[in-house]
Amino acid sequence: MMRPRARRAICCLKFRVIYLLLTLNVIILLLYGDNYLRTREVTKVKSTTSIAKTSCSFHSLSPKEAQVANFLKHSIAWPETLSLPPHLFLNDTSDPAQSTFTILPHERGSWFIGDQLEVLIKVSDFYGRPKTSGGDFLLARLHNPTLNAGVAGRVFDHRNGSYTAVFSLLWEGSAHVEVTLVHPSEGITVLEKLTREQPDRIYFRSFFRLGSVYKITNCNICLNSSRRLCNYTDPSTGEPWFCYKPKNLSCDARITHAKGGLRVYLRPMEEKLFQSGVNLKVSIPASGPAHIQVLSQYDYFYRSDFNFPWDFPGVTKKTMQSSPSGYYYQGAWRSLDGTTVHQFNTITAISQCLKNKAVHLYGDSTIRQWFEYLNQSLPDLKEFDLHSSNQTGPFLALDYANNILLTFRSHGPPIRFRVIPVSHLHYIANELDRVVGGANTVVVIGIWSHFSTFPIEVYIRRLLNIRKAVVRLLSRSPDTLVIIRTANPKALTLYETLTNSDWFSLQRDEVLRAIFKRVRVKLVDAWEMSVAHHLPHSLHPQPPIVKNMIDVVLSYICPKTENL
Ligand SMILES: *[C@@H]1O[C@H](CO)[C@@H](O)[C@H](O)[C@H]1NC(C)=O
Ligand SMILES: *[C@@H]1O[C@H](CO)[C@@H](O)[C@H](O)[C@H]1NC(C)=O
Ligand SMILES: *[C@@H]1O[C@H](CO)[C@@H](O)[C@H](O)[C@H]1NC(C)=O
Ligand SMILES: *[C@@H]1O[C@H](CO)[C@@H](O)[C@H](O)[C@H]1NC(C)=O
Ligand SMILES: *[C@@H]1O[C@H](CO)[C@@H](O)[C@H](O)[C@H]1NC(C)=O
Ligand SMILES: *[C@@H]1O[C@H](CO)[C@@H](O)[C@H](O)[C@H]1NC(C)=O
Ligand SMILES: *[C@@H]1O[C@H](CO)[C@@H](O)[C@H](O)[C@H]1NC(C)=O
Repeated sequence: MMRPRARRAICCLKFRVIYLLLTLNVIILLLYGDNYLRTREVTKVKSTTSIAKTSCSFHSLSPKEAQVANFLKHSIAWPETLSLPPHLFLNDTSDPAQSTFTILPHERGSWFIGDQLEVLIKVSDFYGRPKTSGGDFLLARLHNPTLNAGVAGRVFDHRNGSYTAVFSLLWEGSAHVEVTLVHPSEGITVLEKLTREQPDRIYFRSFFRLGSVYKITNCNICLNSSRRLCNYTDPSTGEPWFCYKPKNLSCDARITHAKGGLRVYLRPMEEKLFQSGVNLKVSIPASGPAHIQVLSQYDYFYRSDFNFPWDFPGVTKKTMQSSPSGYYYQGAWRSLDGTTVHQFNTITAISQCLKNKAVHLYGDSTIRQWFEYLNQSLPDLKEFDLHSSNQTGPFLALDYANNILLTFRSHGPPIRFRVIPVSHLHYIANELDRVVGGANTVVVIGIWSHFSTFPIEVYIRRLLNIRKAVVRLLSRSPDTLVIIRTANPKALTLYETLTNSDWFSLQRDEVLRAIFKRVRVKLVDAWEMSVAHHLPHSLHPQPPIVKNMIDVVLSYICPKTENL
C-alpha cells in the first residue's frame, strides 16, 4: 500500500489550467476557479456559441474546516505524475510484465520474526526501459499459503521509477512476496483529470409526482447552474444536493432518488491504460527468488520482557517502516493494535456477546453486508419486515429472548442505489443525533464507496459532519461504542475503475483515518484485511473475510470474552 507524504510540485489549489479535449467534433474547454472549497465552476465550451455550466457545490466550510480540508488534501497528495502527451503510446507507459521486484538481502544474513523485509521494485515500460518517474499505484502482500498467513506491505515511492515495499515479518516459516501494479502512473494522471473535469460522470435521477402529473429529472452535487434547480441542501448538516426543477411541478413533489448511470469521456488511448491482464491489477514478477525463510526469534535472542514485535533493536531506527494493523495467521485476523481478536464461531458466542445490545449499522452496501451476516448467523434474530428493498433497507432485526436489536440504514445522497424513497434518504450525522447512546449501544459506520467520483472535498465535508455528530454522541453518552469500517480494494474492470478505482478508495481511506484519528472510535481495517487475504479483492469481500471483520467488531464489543 502506498501512503505518499510529500507534496506535489504543482499544487492543485493554485490550479488554473485550460485543457483541450477533442471528443468527436466537439471541443470542450474547461476552466477552473482556484477556490476549490466553496463553489467550483466548471465551464464547458462546446463550440463558440453555447456555454454550459456545471457547478459542484460544496458550500463554504467554516474557516477552521477549510483549513482541515486543505491539510488533508495536502497530506494525501500523490507524487506528481507526468501530464500525458497528445500522442500517448501504450508502449511508453508502465508495464507490469517488464517490471520486476527483488528481495533485498538482510544485513544479518537471515530473517527473524520481528524483522522488516525490504523488496526493491523497478518499473519499466513495454519496451523494458526503466521508468524514471514515480506515481505508479502498487499493492504488496506477504503470505504463506500453508499457514494461511498474510500481511499487507507498505510501498514507498522513490519517484525515479523504483519503489521499496516493506513488510513486517510476523510468522515463522516461508513468506512469499506478491507485488501488484494496480494502475500505471499514466492511469493515475487520467483518474486525477476525471475527478477535475468530470465530477458529475455518475448521475442520479429523481421521480416527481403530483396527482397525475409526473416528471423525472437529473440530480447531483454538480449540476448545470444556468438551469432552474431544486435545492435539497440539508438544513442541519448543510450537505448540498440538487435536482433540476421539474416543469409544472413543485420541488416538494420529489418521491424517489435513484442512480442514473455513468457518462464519461475518455480518449481511446486513455482506455488502454486500464486493461485487465495487461496493466490493471497485474502481478509484477520477481527477478530472483520470491520467498524467504523466517526464523523464530527465540533461536537468537530470547527476552521475556520484549514488546513484540516493535521492540527489536534496529527496527525503530529505519526510516522505511511497515506498521500493519494486523495480519492473518491460520486464516484468522490477529490485530497488532493491542486488541485481542476472539473467534466467535458459534451462535451462542455471538448472541451472548450481543445480549442486551442495540447495534446500529449506518452506511453503504459494505455495511449492509454485516447486517446480512449477523441476520444469517443468528436464527433467533428475526428480521422484522419493513417492506423495504433488499438493496436499500432500512432493516431491523430483533432477538426478544436475548434483547438484541440490530438495525441498518443507508447513508444519504450520493447513495448509488437503484430506487430509494426520499423519506429514507437520511444523513448519518442526523441519525446519530437521534441515538441516545450508552453502554448497551453500538454504532457502526461504513461510508466510502459512493464518494469516489466526486472531488475529495465532498467526502471530507461528509466525514467532518459525521465526526461532529460522533463527538456529540460520545460527550452525551461516553459509554457508547463507535466502530468505523474503512474502505477496501475491489475487483477492477475499466467501468469499475472510472467509477470506483482503488486509487480513489485509497485517497478516501486515508482521509477517513486522519479525520477520526483523535476521536474515541474503533477501526475495522477493511483495507488491510482485504489486501492481506488470499481471496480476490471484492467490493463485497467474501464470507471468510467478513467473518474476520465481524470477529473484530464482536471483540471490540466483548473484549473480555473467554472460552468461547
Ligand atoms: C446548461 O443550461 C443552459 C440554460 O438552460 C443551456 O443553454 C445549456 O445548454 C446547458 N448545458 C448543458 C451541458 O446541459
Ligand atoms: C510496442 O512494443 C512492442 C514490443 O517491443 C512492439 O512489438 C510494437 O511494435 C510496439 N508498438 C508500437 C506502436 O510501437
Ligand atoms: C532511486 O532512488 C532511490 C532512493 O533515493 C535510490 O536508492 C536509487 O538508487 C534510485 N534509482 C535510480 C535508478 O536512480
Ligand atoms: C441552497 O440552500 C442552501 C441552504 O438553504 C443555501 O445556503 C445555498 O446557497 C443554496 N444553493 C443554491 C445554489 O441555491
Ligand atoms: C405544463 O402544464 C401546462 C398547462 O397544463 C401544459 O400545457 C404544459 O404542456 C405542461 N408542460 C409540461 C412540460 O408538462
Ligand atoms: C434475514 O434473514 C431472513 C431469514 O433467513 C431472510 O429472509 C432475509 O432476507 C434476511 N434479510 C437480509 C436483509 O439479509
Ligand atoms: C435482492 O433481491 C434480488 C431479487 O430478489 C436479488 O437478485 C439480489 O441479489 C438481492 N440483493 C441482495 C443485496 O441481497
